Amino acid sequence: MFVITTFVLSSLLIILLSFFVERVSTGRLSRKLPPGSFGWPFVGESLSLLKATANGVPERFVIDRLAKHRITSAFKTSIFGERVVFLCGPAANKFILSDKNEKFVPWWPGPSSKMLGPSILTMKGEEGLLQRKILGTFFGPDNLREFVGVIDEVARKNIEYQWKVKEQVETLVAVKAYVFESACRLFVNVDDPRLFSRLSINFNIFLKGFFGLPINLPGTRFHLAKKAANALTRDFMMLVNQRRMELERKKALPKQDLLTHLLAQVDENGKFMPEIVISKNLLSLLFAGHESTSCTLTLAIKYLGELPHVYEKVLAEQQEIAAAKPPGQLLDWEDVQKMRYTRNVVFEVLRLYPATNTVFREAIDDFEFTGYNIPKGWKIACSASLVHKDPVLFSSPESFDESRFDNSGPAPYTYLPFGGGPRMCLGKELACLEILVFLHHLVVNFKWDPAMPDERIRLNPVPTPAKGLPVRLLPRK
Ligand code: HEM
Repeated sequence: MFVITTFVLSSLLIILLSFFVERVSTGRLSRKLPPGSFGWPFVGESLSLLKATANGVPERFVIDRLAKHRITSAFKTSIFGERVVFLCGPAANKFILSDKNEKFVPWWPGPSSKMLGPSILTMKGEEGLLQRKILGTFFGPDNLREFVGVIDEVARKNIEYQWKVKEQVETLVAVKAYVFESACRLFVNVDDPRLFSRLSINFNIFLKGFFGLPINLPGTRFHLAKKAANALTRDFMMLVNQRRMELERKKALPKQDLLTHLLAQVDENGKFMPEIVISKNLLSLLFAGHESTSCTLTLAIKYLGELPHVYEKVLAEQQEIAAAKPPGQLLDWEDVQKMRYTRNVVFEVLRLYPATNTVFREAIDDFEFTGYNIPKGWKIACSASLVHKDPVLFSSPESFDESRFDNSGPAPYTYLPFGGGPRMCLGKELACLEILVFLHHLVVNFKWDPAMPDERIRLNPVPTPAKGLPVRLLPRK
């Protein structure tokens, strides 16, 4: 009895103390924080979030807490070792995402993001905006239109060597090879097969450790990922030097790929981007676009295999585009603009499975939202699937209905697969281009059936079919 009483009393004391310490440390004894719990010491509520994510319903984490506290707008929690406030709903999304670097800066969870080094993904405030400005011109439609042919060549090659030679394909593996090669062609235009294979091997080691447990001991995935990130950076530095010389000797064109674009750009003060920042940006951009684009394309292929009426409409659109071109001629920007129905299908895939479900920011200063005071330094989160699966915003939210994107599409800040506002995904256009060009070639060449019809979707951390979506191919005559 004595032991139990002591245990209960000391637990109460710890809870009271942590409450007091938290209030004093944030200096807000009199301020009103949103309701919520910081969960267990050290892990906070990370395990509940991981559980909801592993079950494929990350929005559950948010919905359960809103229901528990009978609120609709905000709750506090502790995840990834940080104090985090979820601000919920379209008005909150607008409040967070439309900010112009005045209240918030972008933030990415986990210690792994340090591996990326100084780049667009990690630089904050003015520095981050400067990176965005310089990179933005490359990823805008005016420049990307010049690269449709390159992406088309890579897609044709992938279909030829990874699909046409097989009766059954593991979609995710084939798609990842395509997405990696098209990014490498666009970013650094590598044609040496040995260098390409080294980049590909190191990139895969890097990805495995990036998303794993952050234990930095020899032999762990995290440790190997750090080494792989260094090896990738060395190769990019080597390419930077090589390309600089080629530019000087007029053996490379100033706009031939992202690397030459970055070497040629100067900021407002007439300064070139430092070589290490160019290399880290290349790594960060490869990273930002790889898993997200691969999983979205894979899931689009999954739905097209499962929904014949959608497949037939995509096929009709793509056959019309193919029929209007001389045989063998590469797709161009105008062809991709004609893929309206296919684009709606991709957007619906992203509504059901946004690759990045939660978008984070960090508060630069104390701020107030719907009567709650949120301290400086806290992380702010908005959940895409919370709005995407809200029956008030999207009727029958669990069903696949690409017609939601006809006409003007969803209301502002209700659809967030690419985030929003001034820090919205930089690679949105490129991702759509890669996905649409690939789907064009896939549907005009094949119909397909899922080899494992009940395959589960895991969030790992991006949504992917658990077995990589094996499909049986039925070539079109
Ligand atoms: C279907 C594919 C993709 C999805 C779903 C996606 C999603 C996102 C999301 C949700 C964000 C956060 C936006 C925010 O904070 O408001 C983001 C940021 C970003 N994405 Fe993507 N992305 C995709 C593909 C790509 C590609 C192909 C690239 C690059 C080549 C890329 C580069 C970036 C960059 C650089 C940022 C940070 C932008 C900034 O902080 O200013 N993404 N992406």
